[in-house]
Amino acid sequence: LITPVILSGGSGTRLWPLSRETHPKQFINLINENSLLGDTVERVEALDDVQHLIVVSNEEHRFMVAGCLQTHNNLNKSSIILEPVGRNTAPAIALAAYEALKADTDAVLLIMPADHVINDNPKFAEAVIKGHKAALEGRLATFGIVPDSPHTGYGYIQSGAQQGDWAQVDHFVEKPDEETAKKYIRSGDYYWNSGMFMFRADRYLEELEKFNPDMVAICQRALDKSTTDLDFIRVDAETFASSPDDSIDYAVMEKTDAAVVVPLDAGWSDVGSWSALWEINQQDEHGNVCKGDVITEDVNNSYIHSESRLVAAIGVDNHVIVETDDVILVADKSRVQDVKKLVSQVKKQD
Ligand code: GDD
Ligand code: MG
Repeated sequence: LITPVILSGGSGTRLWPLSRETHPKQFINLINENSLLGDTVERVEALDDVQHLIVVSNEEHRFMVAGCLQTHNNLNKSSIILEPVGRNTAPAIALAAYEALKADTDAVLLIMPADHVINDNPKFAEAVIKGHKAALEGRLATFGIVPDSPHTGYGYIQSGAQQGDWAQVDHFVEKPDEETAKKYIRSGDYYWNSGMFMFRADRYLEELEKFNPDMVAICQRALDKSTTDLDFIRVDAETFASSPDDSIDYAVMEKTDAAVVVPLDAGWSDVGSWSALWEINQQDEHGNVCKGDVITEDVNNSYIHSESRLVAAIGVDNHVIVETDDVILVADKSRVQDVKKLVSQVKKQD
């Protein structure tokens, strides 16, 4: 049986000013009337052979997570594991693995970021069936996306020998520099790592243990010493805080020999920036995506979002304009990766 694990610890800084630390992007209705987290919950519970949903989230966001599960989750059993501080995805998944093993010693985890978009759920479900088979054979499966640009925020997977539904991973490189990413794109035999994974819980811990025994021991202890109230599992704060900080990509996927890749072509996007959001939305005849109260004249290929006030624009192309109660962002669409830099400036001022 599959235990979906939804990772909901990120803060989505590149979608500032809509996405905030107190209200990050997985909780916002970015695409439709559901939040990304709500969509993710519905996506996994529609799969076959699913049991026991686990969400791993930051303590601060517990009520938003619980509220979302109340609306969207129809599975019998769900747990919300709360981290006092974020230590990135490798420890978050280790906590979920130990929790899943309590209920089912054969648990297969399906790791899902809380903040991704997938358009074609049936195709996603087909890929999950393949990933499940790989997991049952002891592999650590990732879902690979055919890349279309030398994006430096992704992991790159060089696939090797095809083995039926999946291929051996010859080489996994997390966030290469631009030169390297361009080389990979030219070579044509790399996938992007989607950040979704499937493996047996015990196999993940076994592999992590090889490369990072401290992390494994700390996560086990933090969960052993956890307290439970309502649906919340609060891991021991002091113990968990002492965990090394690392992502599954660096800590396990770059190093393990057991990785395989299942191709995924299901309209995936990690909605990592305003330009990504512009791309996945329906554009009007001028190539614009306008949300809320917006009027334009001679504006093309732009993303304009108004929360409360009327936003009016004339004669600009390839712009991002986002209006919220306390912030107005104006950016060139090709520069939206740098929104992060603004966010750190704002933090310094606080
Ligand atoms: N619970 C918890 N705790 N969740 C976390 C934490 C944490 O400390 N840190 C991150 N997450 C969640 C985020 O909310 C997100 O849903 C997911 O884990 C991935 O984290 P990101 O911080 O968004 O990773 P990334 O985008 O830099 O890179 C990953 O995703 C790419 C695709 O979007 C990697 O897996 C890359 O290889 C991949 O290409
Ligand atoms: Mg991400």
